[in-house]
Amino acid sequence: MIKIKTPEEIEKMRVAGKLAADVLVMIEPYIKSGVTTLELDQICQDYIYNTQHAISACLGYMGYPKCTCISVNEVVCHGIPGAHVLKNGDIVNIDVTVIKDEYYGDTSKMFIVGGQTTPLNKRLVNTTQECLYAALHKIHDGANLTIVGDTIQKIADREGFSIVRDYCGHGIGNTFHDEPTVLHYRNHDNVMLQTGMTFTIEPMINAGTYKCKVNKKNGWTVTTADKSPSAQFEHTIVVTDDGCEILTLRPEEEGKIERVLHNLI
Ligand code: MF3
Ligand code: CO
Ligand code: CO
Repeated sequence: MIKIKTPEEIEKMRVAGKLAADVLVMIEPYIKSGVTTLELDQICQDYIYNTQHAISACLGYMGYPKCTCISVNEVVCHGIPGAHVLKNGDIVNIDVTVIKDEYYGDTSKMFIVGGQTTPLNKRLVNTTQECLYAALHKIHDGANLTIVGDTIQKIADREGFSIVRDYCGHGIGNTFHDEPTVLHYRNHDNVMLQTGMTFTIEPMINAGTYKCKVNKKNGWTVTTADKSPSAQFEHTIVVTDDGCEILTLRPEEEGKIERVLHNLI
C-alpha cells in the first residue's frame, strides 16, 4: 500500500527537502582538488546537526558509518567518505538525506572537481540530469509509474549509456525507503500515481555496463563492474493533480526546471 500524505505531512517534507537541498548548496565551495571525501562529510555533518538542527538519515542506517554518501567516478552509489583525495576532473556525487520533525528529504547531485572533465564524463553527467528532469516532466495524478523507466531508457539508449538495475528510487515520508519501488529502466511495474504520493527518482547512469559490484570489505561501496564512470541525480517529489512538486529543488536549478511542474496541459 502506497501512503497518500496529508497536507501537514507534505509541509513537513517541504521543510526536510529544503534542508537536504541546502546541504548540497552549502558544500559546493569546499569541493576542490586536494580535499578528502571525509572532510566534505564532516562539513556536512556539522552543518546538518549544528546549523540545521536536523539528523542525517544515513548515519547508522543499517550500520552505515557516515553522514553522506560520496561517490567518485566509477563509484555508482554508497561511497563511504574517507581518506580518498579529490582531483581535478573527478565527477562526484554527494547524496544527502536529512530527517527533520520525523520526515525525510533525500537528494543528490553531481559536482565536477575544478569545473572541467573529459567530454565523456561531461556528457554522462548532463545526460543523467536530463534523465531525471525528463522523468519529472511525466509525473501526474493518474500516470503509470512505468513512465519513469520508459522516459529514462529512451534518453540513455540515445546516448549509448546504461541504466543501473540493482538500485532504485523509493517512496519516502516518515520512513526512508517505502513503497513504491521506482525502477529507472523500462519495466512493467504498473502503479497508478495519485496526488499526495511522495517518492524519489534517482537514476544512476553508467558509461559502460549496467552491472555493478559491491565492495566485499565494507559491504557498501558500489562500483561499475567494468570501472566505467557513473553519474546520479536525485530529487524527492510529491505527485499533484496535474504534475508534481520538487521538494528538494536548489536555487541554482531555477531556469532549468520549475519547482511546481504542470505536466498535463
Ligand atoms: N540516500 C540513498 C538513497 O537515495 C540511500 C543511502 S543509504 C546509506 O536512497 F546508508 F548508504 F546512506
Ligand atoms: Co533515495
Ligand atoms: Co539519496
